[in-house]
Amino acid sequence: MSVTILGIESSCDDTSAAVIRDGFLLSNLISSQEVHRIYGGVVPELASRAHQANIIPVVDSAIKKAGIDISEINAVAFTRGPGLLGSLLVGVSFAKGFALSRNIPLVAVNHLQGHVLAHFVKDEINQNHPKFPFLCLLVSGGHTQLIIVRSHLDMEIVGQTIDDAAGEAFDKCAKVMGLPYPGGPVVDKLAQEGNPQAFSFARPNIKELDFSFSGLKTSFLYTLRDRMAEDPHFIDVRKADLCASLQHTIISILLSKVEMAARKYGIREVAIAGGVSANSGLRNALTELGQAKGWNVFIPQFRYTTDNAAMIAIVGYYRFLAGEFSPHDVTPLARFPLGAAEV
Ligand code: KG4
Ligand code: ZN
Repeated sequence: MSVTILGIESSCDDTSAAVIRDGFLLSNLISSQEVHRIYGGVVPELASRAHQANIIPVVDSAIKKAGIDISEINAVAFTRGPGLLGSLLVGVSFAKGFALSRNIPLVAVNHLQGHVLAHFVKDEINQNHPKFPFLCLLVSGGHTQLIIVRSHLDMEIVGQTIDDAAGEAFDKCAKVMGLPYPGGPVVDKLAQEGNPQAFSFARPNIKELDFSFSGLKTSFLYTLRDRMAEDPHFIDVRKADLCASLQHTIISILLSKVEMAARKYGIREVAIAGGVSANSGLRNALTELGQAKGWNVFIPQFRYTTDNAAMIAIVGYYRFLAGEFSPHDVTPLARFPLGAAEV
């Protein structure tokens, strides 16, 4: 018997629904909320309201696009957390109503596990996936973690940021340069025209496999402040060099820890995941490092880097196979560490 899973993602500002059959992608629709742009960041109350408006049309389109009948869905998987509570509530409530009305199981999913398992979504391009155990660098707007993945459902965090996430470092530095939100993709684009060696910023000296980005952020801010005092047009004139140097520093902080972890755990299968894994500089640098080290490197397709429901559906698929279902009084969790005891 084949297994068909409907996935729902609503942890932040993207409403997404996907259908997966036996691990193969049938549809993956994302409705991104433009309403936050003018505020320079996600406004939780507006995000929640937009999810309410979007969720039914997005799910409806995902089922139609998959070319299946609603009765063929065996379970509904949803993001339980971490994320914005008001946003999560919309997805959780919808999933419960859907499961109840169809009389099918509910499967709660950890969003972070979703980013990692996005590598296992099969489609016309993705034929290859990492072999266990592999090392995954998860870099998003809220998280920066090094994870040893032993099986689909067994993951251990071996390093993480002690302050800002990598995506936050991109976004906050972009904001002080007056770039639009989210800053990461804009910095990526501008960096392509700049010199990565033009400026040097503070690099953290953190032991073992943890990360820190707050010192870099402060150092970036002080550089701007000092140089603007000399020349009020400094940012405009040197924007590309600033972006290239910032991106270069973030990437070298990330990859030095990836290298350390791979050595420590004797792992040669290395993957990246999360929104920041869309960064072209990071993708190129990891590919080069992998070639030099003889690693098998796994870089997600762009559509699986930022938040999407295909990654939730694939976790749902493996949890379904393991018989890990959730009761109907399951609640969303704003904080939900990877590997936490789950209901
Ligand atoms: O995984 P994600 O969509 O949401 C969270 O779970 O946080 O990640 C969003 C983050 C934002 O900080 C955004 O600026 C960053 O991913 N991002 C990028 C790029 N595309 C998205 N950062 C650097 N370069 C990119 N191309
Ligand atoms: Zn995410």
